[in-house]
Amino acid sequence: MSVYLVGAGPGDPGLITVRGLSLLRECDVVLYDRLVAPELVQQAPLRAVRIPRGSLSQEQINELLIGHGRAGFRVVRLKGGDPFVFGRGGEEALALADAGVPFEVVPGVSSLSAVPAAVDIPVTHRGIAAAVTAVAAHEPDRLDYPALARAPGTLVFFMGLAGLDRLAAGLIAAGKAAATPAAVVSSGTLPDQELVVGDLTEIAALATALEPPSLLVVGEVVRIAGRLGAAALRRVAMAA
Ligand SMILES: C[S@@+](CC[C@H](N)C(=O)[O-])C[C@H]1O[C@@H](n2cnc3c(N)ncnc32)[C@H](O)[C@@H]1O
Repeated sequence: MSVYLVGAGPGDPGLITVRGLSLLRECDVVLYDRLVAPELVQQAPLRAVRIPRGSLSQEQINELLIGHGRAGFRVVRLKGGDPFVFGRGGEEALALADAGVPFEVVPGVSSLSAVPAAVDIPVTHRGIAAAVTAVAAHEPDRLDYPALARAPGTLVFFMGLAGLDRLAAGLIAAGKAAATPAAVVSSGTLPDQELVVGDLTEIAALATALEPPSLLVVGEVVRIAGRLGAAALRRVAMAA
């Protein structure tokens, strides 16, 4: 018996891995994050204990994982995207390792590439971007804008919607070209997915009506979406 840190994918329940789904269907306990699709939580057996993250602190989550793991239950910790991409999965793995509770990390499809892909943006298009920088932007005033403005390739900002104006202004002030294309994708891969595209000077104003979860993509790869446009088949979110 052990604890499985499972990536649920970016939103569409069809984007969990085969292994993740199979573990979920056999678990005794599932502890899940807010962004996880309800259709996935329903995949746990009826007898399974369902624990929403709600307002639990990280310490309380660690204690629950350790406690249920030690008690011999099969525990699935279901996390949005990939557990190790801005998901605090590393902290949970360390807590389990320190407590001597066996665990396994089951990677997930991260919004890092999947959400841009859902709007036809290939984050590392050959000849345009040979690097991608993933940035946690929930504290936009603490970012190293000169380093970000110099970074080659594509920039992908997580958790940055509330501070989008400061983010864009910080990049421009640090030397990033104002004409750099940018895209904000809200609820990527889900039926209510929304996309706005503009340059760095206008992207914040264009995105004011969008809701979290949202991802900001900055770089020339955004232009590829316009070229794929109508020819790209749209995925329809499907029940797992
Ligand atoms: C705490 S991070 C978790 C990231 C996750 N571990 C992953 O690999 O995608 C949550 C942030 O990811 C981004 N995000 C996650 N799902 C998204 C979606 N469906 N559409 C747009 N952004 C999303 C948003 O920036 C959101 O605030």
